[in-house]
Amino acid sequence: MRLLNKVAIITGAGSGIGRAAAILFAAEGASVVVVDIAVDAGKDTVSQITAQGGSALFVPTDLRCAEQVERLVQQAITRYGKIDILYNNAGINLKATVTDTSEQDWDRVMEVNVKGVYLTCRFVIPEMMRNGGGCIINTASAAAIVGLRGLAAYTASKAAVLGLTRNIALDYADYNIRANALCPGVTATDMTLRIIESQPDPLKARERYDRGRPLGRMADPDEIARAALFLASEESSFMTGAPLVVDGGYTAE
Ligand SMILES: NC(=O)c1ccc[n+]([C@@H]2O[C@H](COP(=O)([O-])OP(=O)(O)OC[C@H]3O[C@@H](n4cnc5c(N)ncnc54)[C@H](O)[C@@H]3O)[C@@H](O)[C@H]2O)c1
Repeated sequence: MRLLNKVAIITGAGSGIGRAAAILFAAEGASVVVVDIAVDAGKDTVSQITAQGGSALFVPTDLRCAEQVERLVQQAITRYGKIDILYNNAGINLKATVTDTSEQDWDRVMEVNVKGVYLTCRFVIPEMMRNGGGCIINTASAAAIVGLRGLAAYTASKAAVLGLTRNIALDYADYNIRANALCPGVTATDMTLRIIESQPDPLKARERYDRGRPLGRMADPDEIARAALFLASEESSFMTGAPLVVDGGYTAE
């Protein structure tokens, strides 16, 4: 029970890594505020948590919208009284080089992946300061450490998340707020499966994804969720402003 009596907001918790983390954090004793734009998916995560005896609240939210994020934070406080952990996990991908990226697509990726993180931090940090501290996990990517061909806007957005995380760590260290960036490598979630299925030969693409990592496979969402748990818990108490890379050795090459 590493998160006993803690309250955690997890964004993008209706799917993939976010859902795995929501279920894991709840099993470790946290009350979880499940955030997603996808209503059925968010409700389903809450049902899975309550079925195993945990406590969770779903707040449908489009993270690009300041009013909705402010309302989300108010609802979390009304229900649970405080926020200890903010796990910014929601994100979208875009397979395109810079010359193939429309202005609209560029804005969409930046709005979800970067502005969404800015907005949740903007409204949650004052609550953490009131509460005597807190812990923020922002999802960057291996793409924040190295370039990835054909992922221009995505790579730029994840590098921005890493920079923002360092700044938050510096600006709020005096308030006992830690902020770290989680940098997953390729993980077997809907996001990855959508890219694989869009390739001319999905089977070959899957093999390429597996073989592309020294460990010879993609991550399971639970493996990334466990790293997030480490960052959310006291086990990482002297860690702030740092990237935690969980990529099967991809960026070591
Ligand atoms: N899957 C990978 O290989 C991989 C690798 C590195 C980093 N990441 C990062 O990990 C995070 C989770 O990825 P995943 O693979 O679990 O993705 P996913 O697509 O399975 O889940 C993302 C969730 O975010 C939600 N979401 C999207 N836009 C939103 C918005 N505007 N407001 C609220 N919710 C929104 C979606 O509805 C979805 O439930 C993302 O930030 C992603 O960039 C993933």
